[in-house]
Amino acid sequence: MTDVCVCHSVTEEDIRHAVVAGVRSFEALQWLTGCSGGCGGCEQEARQLLSDIITEIACAHPTFHLRPSHDGQ
Ligand code: FES
Repeated sequence: MTDVCVCHSVTEEDIRHAVVAGVRSFEALQWLTGCSGGCGGCEQEARQLLSDIITEIACAHPTFHLRPSHDGQ
């Protein structure tokens, strides 16, 4: 699978797994995967992919929470 972030070997599948694990922001994605923590050249694509994947999963699974489940809600 092609890396979205070459500097930190982050793939689209890694981003998908991060969303399933509760990631809902680019900052959380960076913290979890290191994505865009190098040259920064992947940031725009990574942000768009993160947004697209969150939307895709939320539409496919109506019970999917758009906010992380560990926020006390
Ligand atoms: S390609 Fe992602 S930080 Fe360089």
